[in-house]
Amino acid sequence: MTFPKGFLWGGATAANQLEGAYNEGGKGLSIFDMVQFVPKEERGNEIEMDVRSKKELEDLLAGKGGDNFPKRRGIDFYHHYKEDIALFAEMGFKTFRMSISWPRIFPNGDDREPNEEGLAFYDKVFDELLKYGIEPLVTLSHYEIPLTLVQKYNGWTDRRVVEYFVHYAETVFNRYKGKVKYWLTFNEINVSTMSPYIGSGILIDEVEHKEQAVYQALHHQFVASARAVKACHEMIPDAMIGCMLARMEVYPETCSPDDVLEALKEDQMNLFFTDVQVRGYYPSFMLSYFEENDIKIDMLPGDEEILLQHTVDYLSFSYYMSMVASGAPDKKKEKGNFFSGVKNPYLESSDWGWQIDPKGLRITLKKMYDRYQVPLFIVENGLGAYDKVEEDGSINDDYRIDYMRAHIEQMKEAIKEGVDLIGYTSWGCIDLISASTSEMSKRYGFIYVDQDDYGNGTLARSKKKSFDWYKQVITTNGEEL
Ligand code: BG6
Repeated sequence: MTFPKGFLWGGATAANQLEGAYNEGGKGLSIFDMVQFVPKEERGNEIEMDVRSKKELEDLLAGKGGDNFPKRRGIDFYHHYKEDIALFAEMGFKTFRMSISWPRIFPNGDDREPNEEGLAFYDKVFDELLKYGIEPLVTLSHYEIPLTLVQKYNGWTDRRVVEYFVHYAETVFNRYKGKVKYWLTFNEINVSTMSPYIGSGILIDEVEHKEQAVYQALHHQFVASARAVKACHEMIPDAMIGCMLARMEVYPETCSPDDVLEALKEDQMNLFFTDVQVRGYYPSFMLSYFEENDIKIDMLPGDEEILLQHTVDYLSFSYYMSMVASGAPDKKKEKGNFFSGVKNPYLESSDWGWQIDPKGLRITLKKMYDRYQVPLFIVENGLGAYDKVEEDGSINDDYRIDYMRAHIEQMKEAIKEGVDLIGYTSWGCIDLISASTSEMSKRYGFIYVDQDDYGNGTLARSKKKSFDWYKQVITTNGEEL
């Protein structure tokens, strides 16, 4: 027996990629409601999802330049949640990771009173999960910032947003304290450095010193996260609240000390976030980085104490691929979702060029547990792929099973080697809209959803081959893979 008793097997989603109903139930607009679908041939090197200026945002709001906003429709979980949760229950999920849409609760972000219809929706979802004994695992902000906060405050660059977020967090803790015991503050908090709009709601062309704005916004998010941890501990003493990192294990291209040093530096830039949230302070390498790059973080008295006193109970992360770093400045880089690195010749890639590395997951689990000594939770992992529906309706996604089997095997090894891993929620357990490309055709699910990139389709749900496979994994607590 390797996986501990009570291991939290399940699946993961996010409100903006799943719910749809973007203008129902009193919900306000969210940042991702403004991101359009861009066909593959037209995609450039820029992160297409970033809105960069007020002008661009105004044009989008005025309906200029297309009307295909896939995250507005999601897969209509808002109206299908009962059917979807019944399928998760059939697979034996112990937990379901989802996020609350902040603008469904506070449509403008800075409202004093919450939107009761939004609160009532999540009550129904949590009740449905609990009916089957599935623990909700809830992210407070999964790339989910009310658009008004972007328009009025340029997102997290403004300190006032900390208060709005804490008010939101306290509101949902109070409302769901009897129902939700596992919480996460910000999804992939490190993504702001690559995508300031999605990570921190920043219109980057509106600021002069871009890195200054990004790291100041991140400081506000760190403080807000620590204050949410404090509130959660006070209001729901039997809960656990964690942070969430897009983990990127970085290898040196060769054993040349230049490559090794570059890999170490890139790794530090990735682990900086969890250093703050788990250890409770800014690491010295980051303070040097700020100095070298003329970044001055504006901290209020008491901020450092808050960060130190209210660290997270567990560390969660997403893991899809590893990266390679080279000390040579002009090396060609491959693109991942938000990250790019040198191609690793020992690994295969997904159809989107993400390099598949199950052993890298074990390496990263061991490294992070050595560094932090807190429980770890893999809250995203999976394979985005094109699925084919056969004439008889079956979907034979053996590639997905192979991917997951290989990763779960490495988790097993890491546990045997002493890592305290408490759960695994595979990404997009039901097909949903891709975060980075807004495609529907990039599918991760055990459950197929009949919809294309343009919103055509019946939205009917059907089981893929991986559905029964994952069910067996859960039933045997990871023994039969
Ligand atoms: C993570 C995000 O970056 O990766 C998810 O937290 C996202 O929201 C997932 O969907 C997979 O990325 P993509 O771009 O393939 O949807």
